[in-house]
Amino acid sequence: LKHFLTLDGLSKDILTEILDRAESFLSMGEQSVKKVPLLRGKTVVNLFFENSTRTRTTFELAAKRLSADVINLNIATSATSKGESLLDTLQNLQAMQSDMFVVRHQDSGAPHFIAEHCTPNVAIINAGDGRHAHPTQAMLDMLTIRRHKGKFEGLKIAIVGDILHSRVARSELHAMKTLGVEEVRLVGPKTLVPEFFRDMGATICHDLKAGLDDVDVIVMLRLQKERMAGALLPSESEFYRLYGLTEESLAWAKPDAIVMHPGPINRGVEISSEVADGDQAVILDQVTNGIAIRMAVMSMAMSGQVQEQQAVGEEG
Ligand code: CP
Repeated sequence: LKHFLTLDGLSKDILTEILDRAESFLSMGEQSVKKVPLLRGKTVVNLFFENSTRTRTTFELAAKRLSADVINLNIATSATSKGESLLDTLQNLQAMQSDMFVVRHQDSGAPHFIAEHCTPNVAIINAGDGRHAHPTQAMLDMLTIRRHKGKFEGLKIAIVGDILHSRVARSELHAMKTLGVEEVRLVGPKTLVPEFFRDMGATICHDLKAGLDDVDVIVMLRLQKERMAGALLPSESEFYRLYGLTEESLAWAKPDAIVMHPGPINRGVEISSEVADGDQAVILDQVTNGIAIRMAVMSMAMSGQVQEQQAVGEEG
């Protein structure tokens, strides 16, 4: 079948097709996406082993707008707490004739593991694994950029904050480079912006003023403390002083720069309330666009369109 596990190896054509399909869903409704029958008769199971507000809810909404039946397995109250293994849980869900698992997991690689061990008639969608990948978040961010800027070519984008622990930054970097963004700057302290990202085509910058100079798009990231055990970290107040996006530091970017954040935002740590709620912020647009992107990905996965490219990417 047809999984959506990572953006690595996916072509510009397939990323553009995902964006175009999502755009068509947005265009269908005046204020919101209308219901379509593309997944009628299919069962989608949300398997979230790690907490989520935006991703889980928008996957559920997207599946319902595609007319699928949706199950949200509550991991905390499931039989995993009685010692049932992940694979046994999955086998039971497959026996209920599920067609798609949407998986979020704290361990990098968990959705790939599940994809390898499921029967071929179940599609696996990665809803964020460890610090590895968050492909639908990156695609909803690309849709938000395209809707506000109209293009990718020629754009300068700064991703600011805890890059090291961020699956969003990794997936966004792949998407931005594939779609033709001119420059992607990764901005933050040396402890949180490792040099190896240069090999992936990014510019590294440890000074916020230089990092924001002349950029069209700013993506702010929170300190992902749940993945930081033992790391040498700046205090929240020091981080805010050096890397926080405030009205003063926002002025270093282009006057029409947009401010993005995948959420959850930590006000007064990586972003001020004035900026998060200000005219340049498109943070809630990102959430809305997430419904259409997830509809696009789920419908393409179910029809096999993503897998063909994904297989090519994994071979490469
Ligand atoms: N952006 C994001 O993944 O948010 P949630 O953790 O709320 O899903």
